Amino acid sequence: MAKARAHSSKRTTHHLLLAVSLSVSVLLPLLLPAAATAAVAVVEGDGEIKSALGAGRQWATGKDEVNLVEEGDTAGGGSVEEDDFAGGFGSLDSMLQWAIGNSDPEKLKEEAADVQKLSAGELLKRRQEIKELMEKLKMPSDADLMKIAIADLKNSSISLEDRQRALQELLVLVEPIDNANDLDKLGGLLPVIQELNNANAEIRTTSAWVLGTASQNNALVQNQILGYGALARLVKMGYSTSTEEAAKALYAISALIRNNVNGQEAFHSENGGAMLQHILVSNSVDARLQKKAVFLVTDLADFQLNSGNPQLPFLSDRLFLKSIVDMLSKFDLDLHEKVLLAIKSLLELSSTDVEDFEFYDLEGVLLRLGVQVEDLTPEDQKEFAGEVDGLRREVQTLFQQKLKQLQLLLSKLIEFDVDDINCDETKLSVQMS
Ligand SMILES: *[C@@H]1O[C@H](CO)[C@@H](O)[C@H](O)[C@H]1NC(C)=O
Repeated sequence: MAKARAHSSKRTTHHLLLAVSLSVSVLLPLLLPAAATAAVAVVEGDGEIKSALGAGRQWATGKDEVNLVEEGDTAGGGSVEEDDFAGGFGSLDSMLQWAIGNSDPEKLKEEAADVQKLSAGELLKRRQEIKELMEKLKMPSDADLMKIAIADLKNSSISLEDRQRALQELLVLVEPIDNANDLDKLGGLLPVIQELNNANAEIRTTSAWVLGTASQNNALVQNQILGYGALARLVKMGYSTSTEEAAKALYAISALIRNNVNGQEAFHSENGGAMLQHILVSNSVDARLQKKAVFLVTDLADFQLNSGNPQLPFLSDRLFLKSIVDMLSKFDLDLHEKVLLAIKSLLELSSTDVEDFEFYDLEGVLLRLGVQVEDLTPEDQKEFAGEVDGLRREVQTLFQQKLKQLQLLLSKLIEFDVDDINCDETKLSVQMS
């Protein structure tokens, strides 16, 4: 993902660079004598539209043209490094500076002189051309585009289609991490969260999708969304009968609570475990959604294993474990693989009581699964079936190992209790005699 992000930002820079080099070669000779009157809006890096030339800033009379060129140089013009390109220009202004720095001052002078020979009518026409070119140059920044989409979301009178389109634009725009970080600053996070309550299921779905994308591997945005209390609504959406809505809610929840202790605590207090269990046990729920839920269980168990911090008691809840074991009775190799991985992680949790798994006959279920995989797998899936069966045996071994450990522990406790009793009896007999 980081690669894709870097790539796309570089590509944008190159496009901009190309556009600027082309435009500047046409514009600059025209601008030099005419600039005093041309007010040109420049898109700054922060997305603010400012009128750079109109704000009393004079672009070059013949006299300070040389100064301007030198300024361009010191501003990193001629000696600009490849690294600077990768980082992009902060503003259109800096791109112009760069282009000026890379121009030939003698040629500029000549062309400026040529322009001065033009008639008033021709000059006016050229000014018009400059204006049009500058309009084209005003390529909106991502922040500008985000502001437009956010303004649409905030507008209660736009159509449902426009609302959906605004969310879909944001979905693409928040993919790069810098834009995701800007979403709240630009006032966009709350309007997106509010769409989770829209009466239209499609709007709610896209809104959850935007939140998931923005918070993916991004602790800052995770905590902002958690701070606005969006998790409660997302957990409710996980119960939706629309597979798409429940799937996107689950996607957003996974992105929000992944590696985030606050998120996991909030998930627990919103009773997220019950929602997961609902997805696991419902026959009407789409298998893809069940796989996502099982995957989340494994992810949460692994986080708990690595952090040694039991935030999620439902992971060791007896009925929860039953719903996981029960999933092995369906025949779906892909699901089996995910469920086996989940059981493997759950067995490792110190909070899990291995006897619960024994109670639901994990041993027998695993044995039957082995026979089933052997007998029912179509020819073209044999290789994958072999992998799943390897995993099944691994889980079986781990389960037996955990059971032995428990029996050993129990027998120790019993010995200890017996000693204790003996000791008491001695005391008792001493007292008696
Ligand atoms: C809100 O949307 C309506 C309908 O598209 C539009 O006419 C109006 O100008 C918008 N209001 C604002 C403040 O953008």
